[in-house]
Amino acid sequence: MILNNIRALTVVCWIMCVRSTVSQAPTLNFPYSVNPNKVALNTPVQFSCNIPRYSPYPMTVSIGKLENSSQTPESTVSWLTSEVIHSGSMYFTIPAVSQYEGKLVCWYKSTKTSLKKPYSEFSNPVDFIVSALSPPNITVNPDFFLEGGNYTVSCNITPNTLTNYTMSQFYRYLPFTPANNWTLLGSSFLTDISSTYSSQKNMFVPVEFACSTEMVYNGKVLHSPLATKQAIPESLPVQLWEQRRGESCMGYLNINLKFQWRPVCQKPLDTEAVSQAAATTASVVCRDLGCGHMLNWQRLSDSTRLFTNTIGDIKCSGKENKIKDCSLNVTESCKEQGTLFIVCSDAMPRPKLSVFLHGPVSKLYVTDKQDVELVCFINSTLLKTQDYGYYIFRKNGQVFREIYTQPQYLKSVTLSAPVEGEYECAFQLDSSKIKQVSQPSNNVFIYKLQKKRYQHIPRTQRQHRSVLKIHKTMQTTYHSKCRTKQINYDKNMFTLLTMKYDT
Ligand SMILES: *[C@@H]1O[C@H](CO)[C@@H](O)[C@H](O)[C@H]1NC(C)=O
Ligand SMILES: *[C@@H]1O[C@H](CO)[C@@H](O)[C@H](O)[C@H]1NC(C)=O
Ligand SMILES: *[C@@H]1O[C@H](CO)[C@@H](O)[C@H](O)[C@H]1NC(C)=O
Ligand SMILES: *[C@@H]1O[C@H](CO)[C@@H](O)[C@H](O)[C@H]1NC(C)=O
Ligand SMILES: *[C@@H]1O[C@H](CO)[C@@H](O)[C@H](O)[C@H]1NC(C)=O
Ligand SMILES: *[C@@H]1O[C@H](CO)[C@@H](O)[C@H](O)[C@H]1NC(C)=O
Ligand SMILES: *[C@@H]1O[C@H](CO)[C@@H](O)[C@H](O)[C@H]1NC(C)=O
Repeated sequence: MILNNIRALTVVCWIMCVRSTVSQAPTLNFPYSVNPNKVALNTPVQFSCNIPRYSPYPMTVSIGKLENSSQTPESTVSWLTSEVIHSGSMYFTIPAVSQYEGKLVCWYKSTKTSLKKPYSEFSNPVDFIVSALSPPNITVNPDFFLEGGNYTVSCNITPNTLTNYTMSQFYRYLPFTPANNWTLLGSSFLTDISSTYSSQKNMFVPVEFACSTEMVYNGKVLHSPLATKQAIPESLPVQLWEQRRGESCMGYLNINLKFQWRPVCQKPLDTEAVSQAAATTASVVCRDLGCGHMLNWQRLSDSTRLFTNTIGDIKCSGKENKIKDCSLNVTESCKEQGTLFIVCSDAMPRPKLSVFLHGPVSKLYVTDKQDVELVCFINSTLLKTQDYGYYIFRKNGQVFREIYTQPQYLKSVTLSAPVEGEYECAFQLDSSKIKQVSQPSNNVFIYKLQKKRYQHIPRTQRQHRSVLKIHKTMQTTYHSKCRTKQINYDKNMFTLLTMKYDT
């Protein structure tokens, strides 16, 4: 056992001793980020010369070209030589131009005076060949424009980097399909000019543009990859959206820009003019969506969403039918991350208040011994089953009952005699960012029945009978103490009930 261990130690020592006396060759690496077959003319390319461990530091590291097989590090012209280094590896940046093309190698020279042979071997050779051009820069100006707008597409290279080259522009319609492939828009041979333009007018379709360059260099034809840019005529559709119910007539204001829904950027409301502009925006949004009129709005911050390239600075006169007709602009970064939350009237219609067994009457005469049951229902297809809130019942303007529920259920309250008064109800949404209260329902006036009038209402008695038939099929639960009644009958039946009494 002990013997084995000693042998192992000897092996380790032998490796270390050999390593510290023989100058091992470094390795030269082409950067991972650069494709060796697509080295673009005039670009700086960073090579790393890795020095093996246990090499005789301190040393200088050099890079140069291998031109024939009898060349040695000592006899080779160094393009670049590092300062004296005491550890680590060395990086060299070589410009991609013809004079540096070839087989590149690196090597080092130890500055230890004790060494007989201060030079290392050459590294592995790396082929460095200029084989491409950099992509030109392409811009669409203006980048944001409405349907029917005009723009120019320009292709640029850095001035004085290419001479006697060809610049080409291509286009294809979006969305891309194999049939919509690139079509050449034009090509020009340029001696010293660095940009080309094309102009497009009255554009309604989205188009993608591309530029490329081509040049003969050192006897080879070099091509650039395509640089592309989309030109999208915007119609700026709007959307009110909230996680819980998706798209409806209430929610965060999103505007579609470049095929993507983005939150609108709302500046802080620090002046009256800014608040006024936001309110006007909210009312135009409700009109744009066909959601009725604006009931409420708020500026809210939303840190969960990305606010880059959003629409901001919206200023409407108030007469516009569409948000795109307002003055607005793309805000590249919306630092305050404020957006608008808007409630339009169709999201929260007026609920309907009816009297059980009488329908949606506006007046009711009862004796001072008679109880009355009021039914409140908000019929909004835009509130979803996930929504919840309160039915609020008011008598003579005062809230006397609130019932927590989901909006698809009718809610009723039983009033104990005497019940004279003016009644209305409302619905307050609780499951939304803004706890909006609907506009009040219709009013129901309940009067004390005078003996004289009693004879004038045979009609009510007729109605009573027909409704009572329906009543039998309903399931009802009474809580006699608090006199709130839960009615489980469905909406269709409620419609039947109310239709009978529509006058
Ligand atoms: C090889 O290169 C060395 C110097 O780099 C030069 O002196 C020599 O003449 C070259 N030999 C041939 C065969 O090209
Ligand atoms: C686009 O250009 C045409 C012709 O030059 C011009 O009549 C039109 O007003 C321009 N449209 C816009 C939105 O600037
Ligand atoms: C494109 O523009 C960038 C910055 O403006 C510049 O660094 C780059 O060299 C340009 N590309 C070409 C091919 O000129
Ligand atoms: C570019 O081409 C012109 C003729 O087309 C020629 O006179 C000129 O020398 C060329 N320039 C370069 C840098 O090759
Ligand atoms: C589009 O055109 C390019 C070059 O013209 C070609 O390489 C490519 O295969 C084409 N794409 C399709 C989907 O046809
Ligand atoms: C929109 O923004 C661009 C640049 O950010 C600016 O040049 C332009 O004047 C702005 N337009 C309006 C209508 O504010
Ligand atoms: C709710 O309103 C829709 C139309 O807005 C109507 O079709 C439906 O019958 C109404 N439902 C009830 C229960 O009144």
